Amino acid sequence: MKYDISDIRLAGKGKLRIEWAEENMPVVRLIRERFKKERPLKGIKIACCLHVTTETAVLVNALKSGGADVKLCASNPLSTQDDVAASLVKDYKIPVFARRGENNTLYYEHIYSVLGNKVHVTMDDGADLVSTIHKERRDLVSDIMGSTEETTTGIIRLRSLEKSKKLLFPVIAVNDADTKHLFDNRYGTGQSTVDGIIRATNILMAGKVVVVSGYGWCGRGVAMRARGMGANVVVTEVEPVRSLEAVMDGFSVLPMKAAAKIGDIFVTLTGNTSVIAKEHFKMMKDGAIVANSGHFNVEIDIPALEKMSSKKRFIRSGVEEYRLKDSNKRINLLGEGRLVNLACAEGHPAIVMDMSFANQALAAEYLVKNSSGLEKKVYKVPEKIDKYISSLKLKSMGVNIDKLTPFQKKYLASWEIGT
Ligand code: ADE
Repeated sequence: MKYDISDIRLAGKGKLRIEWAEENMPVVRLIRERFKKERPLKGIKIACCLHVTTETAVLVNALKSGGADVKLCASNPLSTQDDVAASLVKDYKIPVFARRGENNTLYYEHIYSVLGNKVHVTMDDGADLVSTIHKERRDLVSDIMGSTEETTTGIIRLRSLEKSKKLLFPVIAVNDADTKHLFDNRYGTGQSTVDGIIRATNILMAGKVVVVSGYGWCGRGVAMRARGMGANVVVTEVEPVRSLEAVMDGFSVLPMKAAAKIGDIFVTLTGNTSVIAKEHFKMMKDGAIVANSGHFNVEIDIPALEKMSSKKRFIRSGVEEYRLKDSNKRINLLGEGRLVNLACAEGHPAIVMDMSFANQALAAEYLVKNSSGLEKKVYKVPEKIDKYISSLKLKSMGVNIDKLTPFQKKYLASWEIGT
């Protein structure tokens, strides 16, 4: 079996941590047990480009139990948990191509390795597999049944492909399932981003001004959790409805130029580029902390920061202190501007990834069963799957809910009954 990881000797630690995550992933466990019996993915080659974490290990193991031939590479150079990569290779016999801290060249070599000579389903977090296939590996397209996509940024890229009529196979937008973005993006990113900032810096959140850029589901989560820890949260946005929501949720909303002057900690979650740029760094307070929790490391203009600085040093693990030439002020950049929740912490907790990855597993099964009837479009996860996952999750949490009575069903279906 071919693989490329940092250190196979880390497998023991990785295996224990994978078992810990598995405990908190009851829905994926249930799917895995059914997959073991039914083998719906028998003979299907699945290339996964996901963050290599304990939770991802539980997912790929479930896919393998369903009969799939799975290969895994990282969806970010700095998010790989090397002990998990080692255990997947040693204990679960899954080929992994990922090393924490890999450079861009190796990152793409690993993408080529999981694609190999033939693939039926691709599973992306950020659309790097799909984009590589469209740009460089069109020879693979004839065998591809479709792809699944985990994250908002990936969906934006795929919809742009679809819009330009260049999409070559169907895609299931896992991110857009309610049981994904309402929980993973909000509560997962909310907690794990604050966790990453705190693990990297050990700062006290209470009393700090935290500037959250972007008020999508991820931004909402971070704003909510930072406020819960006593921070004064300022939101920056470009979209009027979201800005209004942030105002009515009780946050200050300011343009970045105004926020830059007062922030102690900045977090970007916009999916866009250059959200924190040269003019903003200039205005920041000495010692400001800057982090990104969006998918790509383009939200903070790091090349500009480099140019403006006379020197930089790692002051703590995951914290690079830049010294500005003109003012002698310091700006602290976390996790090289990559996803702070995965670069400086462990990503979202297993209990929330359980729903995201249940969607991934069932979306892969759906693609395989329905591939002949699907067009070259971006599809939503079928509502039936979303509802099924929410019901199982509630059950695993011991939460019971009411059912509509026949009388209520009839009432909801009627238009005649009024005042
Ligand atoms: N994205 C965010 N958190 C994650 C995790 N724990 N595993 C995989 N992907 C993630």
